[in-house]
Amino acid sequence: MKQSLGVKAYLYPMPVLVIGTYNDDGTPDAMTMAWGGLCDYDKVALNLEEAHLTSSNVAKRMAFTLAVADCAHIAEADYVGTVSGKTVPDKTARCGLHAVKSEHVDAPVFEEFPVTLECKVLELQHGIAGFRVIGQIVNTLADERVVGADGEIDSAKVDGAIFETSGRTYCRTGETLGGAWDIGQKFGK
Ligand SMILES: Cc1cc2nc3c(=O)[nH]c(=O)nc-3n(C[C@H](O)[C@H](O)[C@H](O)COP(=O)(O)O)c2cc1C
Repeated sequence: MKQSLGVKAYLYPMPVLVIGTYNDDGTPDAMTMAWGGLCDYDKVALNLEEAHLTSSNVAKRMAFTLAVADCAHIAEADYVGTVSGKTVPDKTARCGLHAVKSEHVDAPVFEEFPVTLECKVLELQHGIAGFRVIGQIVNTLADERVVGADGEIDSAKVDGAIFETSGRTYCRTGETLGGAWDIGQKFGK
């Protein structure tokens, strides 16, 4: 028996991503985003409230970074998602994040996060779902320790956190179930 719950913004899992931008005075800002992610092989979509400092920073510099928040730094990721750079301008330093300038885009890279996409803004959209930023991935930075011998990112080593929207909690990903485009082959072609 299924229960009808009306409109719920429920999909599981949601990512925990940290957007890095520069403020007008060049200090780094960071905010957490769960409502967004990949929208093409080389593009990302950010769904943002326009009032966030991040939104105006992105529009001014036409650049941002997008980091995967790992479980080891989930408290830092949570913190930058709960205070605005408008009221706490040093929020990244306060929680111990270290910023270095991206070599590819006008935005900061936070050293603590294991994987970061460096992005240029392709389009700022004001559509039916609000303010959305489409970004072009121009480079991917990964800590050496999370890159396998095959040159691919090893997600088990990244240990990226996921957001669980019903209970408003962060979780760790679980076990491998099988190969994608493979495990379903038992039903035939
Ligand atoms: C788990 C989590 C997910 C969030 N997801 C989003 C999101 O997808 N879009 C958004 O606009 N704000 C989101 N926020 C809120 C912003 O991160 C938050 O308002 C932040 O303080 C904005 O910072 P800024 O004003 O310095 O840019 C999220 C916050 C948390 C804790």
